[in-house]
Amino acid sequence: MSKPFYITTAIDYVNGKPHLGHAYEKVIADVIARTRRSLGREVFFLTGLDEHGQKVQQAAIAEKKSPQAYCDELAAEWQAFARKLELTNNDFVRTTQARHKQTVQACLERVRAAGHFYRQTYSGFYSLKEETFLTEKDRLPDGSFDPAWGEVIELKEDNYFFRLGEHQQWLMDYIAQNPDFIAPEYRRNEVLGFLKSSVLEDLCISRPVSRLSWGIPIPFDAEYVTYVWFDALVNYISIPAAHGDAAVIAAVGGLASSLPDAGGTPAPLQLWPADVHVIGKDILKFHAVYWPIMLKALGLPLPRQILVHGWWQKDGQRMSKSTGNVVDPIAVINEWGVDAFRYYVLRELDIGPDGNWTDAGFRARYSAELARGLGNFINRSLTMLKRYRNGIVPQRSDELAADTARAVEEVRSLLERSHLQAALQAIQSLISRGDKYIEQTAPFKLAKEPAQAGRLDAVLYNLAETCRIVAILFQPFLPGTAAKIYAQLGLAGKADKFSETAWGQLQAGHKIGEPAALFPLKEEK
Ligand code: MSP
Repeated sequence: MSKPFYITTAIDYVNGKPHLGHAYEKVIADVIARTRRSLGREVFFLTGLDEHGQKVQQAAIAEKKSPQAYCDELAAEWQAFARKLELTNNDFVRTTQARHKQTVQACLERVRAAGHFYRQTYSGFYSLKEETFLTEKDRLPDGSFDPAWGEVIELKEDNYFFRLGEHQQWLMDYIAQNPDFIAPEYRRNEVLGFLKSSVLEDLCISRPVSRLSWGIPIPFDAEYVTYVWFDALVNYISIPAAHGDAAVIAAVGGLASSLPDAGGTPAPLQLWPADVHVIGKDILKFHAVYWPIMLKALGLPLPRQILVHGWWQKDGQRMSKSTGNVVDPIAVINEWGVDAFRYYVLRELDIGPDGNWTDAGFRARYSAELARGLGNFINRSLTMLKRYRNGIVPQRSDELAADTARAVEEVRSLLERSHLQAALQAIQSLISRGDKYIEQTAPFKLAKEPAQAGRLDAVLYNLAETCRIVAILFQPFLPGTAAKIYAQLGLAGKADKFSETAWGQLQAGHKIGEPAALFPLKEEK
């Protein structure tokens, strides 16, 4: 049994509506998932929701709902959002599901049995908003706490702590020896720098029920629920366990009920370790420090890569609901189509740095790169084939074969390294090559000279075949557009196999379908 390529996203807090940042991350993961499938791998793509914790409890109370009813309503909205983005996730985890909760509890038992936890009285400051304990180091020079921590209260309470210090050197060595573990490289250096310059404080993994009831009960102490991050990170293995991943089940123990039944259920999957966790820069420490130590304590291997993206701003400012400075991805998709949205976020912003959304920037790329660039190239090529040859593909000609093959290999190599922005640029270069070919060969002139009929055949073949290959290259990014190009080419199959980028598969005599604009130009508002 070969292990599927296992890719995850952060699971979003369910206390609000999805925004651009959430959408961006999910689209990154979806493009990587679709790419790997196109390259011939089986893929398991997981996304979902983080439903426990103070923020959700407070939001539910504010709406006079039970936390579960509140989560159920919003979960339906978030799942609809995943469909709107055309995500190809194989499962959708909600941390309130029994299959997840039982794994969290089994993990807590295991880590406790291995002696990693201790109980201690804590007294100090606590941020209600971030659900985290603050220390003197967190004070600003004037003695106050940063407003970003929200309401800060003074606390004295008993809790369970996870001893992290003894794993610090191991983690530093691991990160140093595995250069691809955290990407991009500057994020890796950031984690190494942090680990080298500070002593890891132990992690409080419990919250007293008296203060926070909306959480997974700690199995060995009914007075406590699980700290939301210990709960949330476990989703990456609880879903493999639910799909019968034997190594996870063996490591975690106590999960007999999650093994598939003998009859009728799908064969168990071997998913762990994840190939990629796609996350934002703000949650790097949880994924690159706490999560590896949790896995080590459970005796499980570490994920192969943590891929860290930056944050979007709008018009140069942090997006904020209170000022109305937000990008609503659903509104953008309704107006421009999902492919235009997927295209813009990945073309505009490389995975790593922060980005800035402007409506003008979005329109400019739509017009120049989708309507004029991709859309025009396909439309001109197929319209000429229709007009001059009644839509019948002429004899094969290989004039653009070498240039196309070079572009295909470049795109493949970039996609294998998840360099999505650069891959889009490489596909665009191929389109520019095609445009130049039209200019150089001037098929509209050839069409006027009967003696040039053979030459025109050759040009039209090269253009149509390039259109087919462009569709396959774009497919992970623009699945709907790729399907439209295939339909316009009159091809029955799907543009979802990278191996079919080999030149010369369009057959002479094949009749294409109807050309139509892929990205209509819109009037300036
Ligand atoms: N629930 C935790 C993650 C647990 S993962 C085991 C969480 N949720 S979140 O809803 O606040 O954020 C989810 C993801 O969205 C994070 O990766 C975060 O970085 C990303 N983004 C949230 N706002 C963003 C932008 N403005 N821009 C880009 N991504 C952003 O953290």
